[in-house]
Amino acid sequence: MSGPNTDYDPVEVTPLKAEEVERMRDEALAAISAAADLDELKQARLDHAGDRSGLALANREIGALPPQARKEAGQRIGQARGAVNKALAARQAVLEVEHEERMLVTETVDVTLPTDRGRRGSRHPITLQSELIADIFVAMGWEIAEGPVVEAEWLNFDALNLGPDHPARTMQDTFWTEPAENHVVLRTQTSPVQARTMLTRTPPIYVACPGRVFRTDEYDATHSPMFHQVEGLVVDEGITMAHLKGSLDHLAAQLFGPGIDTRFRPSYFPFTEPSAEVDVRCFVCRGEDSDSCRTCKGEGWIEWGGCGVVNPRVLVACGVDPEVYSGFAFGMGIDRSFMFRHALGDLRPLFEGDARFSSAFGTEI
Ligand code: DAH
Repeated sequence: MSGPNTDYDPVEVTPLKAEEVERMRDEALAAISAAADLDELKQARLDHAGDRSGLALANREIGALPPQARKEAGQRIGQARGAVNKALAARQAVLEVEHEERMLVTETVDVTLPTDRGRRGSRHPITLQSELIADIFVAMGWEIAEGPVVEAEWLNFDALNLGPDHPARTMQDTFWTEPAENHVVLRTQTSPVQARTMLTRTPPIYVACPGRVFRTDEYDATHSPMFHQVEGLVVDEGITMAHLKGSLDHLAAQLFGPGIDTRFRPSYFPFTEPSAEVDVRCFVCRGEDSDSCRTCKGEGWIEWGGCGVVNPRVLVACGVDPEVYSGFAFGMGIDRSFMFRHALGDLRPLFEGDARFSSAFGTEI
């Protein structure tokens, strides 16, 4: 036997009958238009256009037809499958748009709603600055000492050679607490921590005392009734002004950059003798083109604090033998140091608690 079976009756191949093809096509089109979402459409595609769908199976039967019947059947099936694929694509496009619109509605985020997530806090720049300064001293082997901000008048003044009638008492405008006969003040300086340390310990003493101090100053760009100081005190055998200078040079270099040194100008403090004001080299112009420098205002130097060799009268008042020991002390403003380190023209933001200011300098916790 050879050659095609010309007696083959296409009518016998049921899946290829015109009515059957039409029925399968209509069934497919109905399923496609009934698909309500992309999942249902996927199922309709599998059922009516997949490899095992009626139309696909019918398509496979074409090869078995005699040549003269193939063309007509092929056309019929091809048209039906084409119509199904077109309907699938059209429905797919419609359902995708619908799907996207639904997502946009259900997943909408109202960005105007108040958030219930708290802002992350950040540490206050002055706290960080104080800790940085404390770390510099600790790295030199010094200890950190603290004292109360509500302080005995005697420790804030008398023990530091500032007796009741001493004219220098008026240098620091003092907040007194009531009743006055208790002689309690808000400490005007961190220097009473010197007295507290010497009264409770024996030399050698190497301490730094950062903390808050209070004065009845008007609140303006460069003054605040509450500010911060750091005090340094060394009491040991053979301590001289040279040790003071070396320690301050080291602190300046650590805080403001290598090569930043300090200079002394003669001054007066009742608790030191001799006394000096200490200036720090302007870390912006370094004294080289100071005329146009906004940080030091043409000086080449920035006023930093007070210092000196501990007055023997203070050593005696605090129970330290001045025949054996000598010491140096210094005190400077932490806020001031911070201001010129960051070229701030106004210190008020440091005290107003706006977290946006603090977090610009602070480290997030
Ligand atoms: N307590 C001084 C002030 O507030 C600063 C000061 C000056 C502290 C000299 C010292 C010092 O320890 O030796 O103005």
